[in-house]
Amino acid sequence: MQIVILNDAAAVAAYGANIFAAQLQKKPTSVLGLATGSTPVALYQELIAKNKAGEISFSHATSFNLDEYLGLTGEHSQSYRYFMNEQLFSHVDINKENTFVPAGDAENPITACKEYEAKIVAAGGVDVQLLGIGRNGHIGFNEPSSGLRSRTRVKTLTKATIDDNARFFGADEYQPHLSITMGIGTILEAKKVVLLATGENKADAVHAMIEGPLMAACPASALQLHQDAVIVIDKAAASKLADLEFYQHIEAENQKLQAHLATL
Ligand code: F6R
Repeated sequence: MQIVILNDAAAVAAYGANIFAAQLQKKPTSVLGLATGSTPVALYQELIAKNKAGEISFSHATSFNLDEYLGLTGEHSQSYRYFMNEQLFSHVDINKENTFVPAGDAENPITACKEYEAKIVAAGGVDVQLLGIGRNGHIGFNEPSSGLRSRTRVKTLTKATIDDNARFFGADEYQPHLSITMGIGTILEAKKVVLLATGENKADAVHAMIEGPLMAACPASALQLHQDAVIVIDKAAASKLADLEFYQHIEAENQKLQAHLATL
C-alpha cells in the first residue's frame, strides 16, 4: 500500500484527480472504476475542470461504477446512475453509452450481476478503480463479513450504512436496503486502486484497513493484498494510525525516488 497523507480534503481530491488525469493522458481508452458518496465529489469537480481546460478527454474512456441501490431506476434522484450523471458524466466529454452502473432496476438482479462482470472483462478490466471507505470499513457495498474473493452480487446494507446514507433521502422517501455491488474479488482485479478518505469519522476505518489484520470484518483490509493500492487521506482520517510518521517518511523517500527517475 502506498499511503499518502495530505493536509486536507481539497488536497486529497487534487491528488486523486491527478492520478486519474495522468491515466487518461497515458491511455485515452482507459477503463475507469468510479464511486459515489460524498468523498469523490471534489475529485470529480477537479476532473471536470481539467476536461474543460482541454487537459484530459474522456471521449475514448469507459467507466464502471462500483455499486447501485437495488430497487431504484436510473431516473431516481438517489440512484447512483443519477448521481454520476449529475456529478461527472453530464459535464465531461464521455460517451454515456460507455458508462456502466449496475442495473438497480434489473428484473433479474442475479443475471444482471453476472452480466456486469462479463462487461468489465469484455472492456479489458478496470485500469484504475476509485474507492471511498465506509465508517465500518466497507468498500463498494461490501459490508463487514463480505467474502474477500466475492464477485458482483446482491448485498444487504448494514444499519450503519443505511443510517449514514439516510441524509440523502427525504423523510418520507423510500430508502433501499439492498444493493448490487462489485465484489471484493472484482475490485482487487483492477490494475490500480485509489482509495480516498477524509475526516475524523473515517479514522477508525482507515486504521483498521492499514494496520489491522486482513479480515472480512474490515472489507477494505483486503487492499493489503493489492499490488498497486494508493491510499490518499487527510490528517484527520490518518489521526488514529500508530505508525503515521513512518508512512510520511516512506512517502517522502518515494517522492525523492520519483524525482530521480524523472531525470533519467
Ligand atoms: C459508493 C461506495 C461506498 C462509499 C462509502 C463512503 O459508491 O461504494 O463504499 O465510498 O460509503 O461514502 P462517503 O464518501 O459518502 O463517506
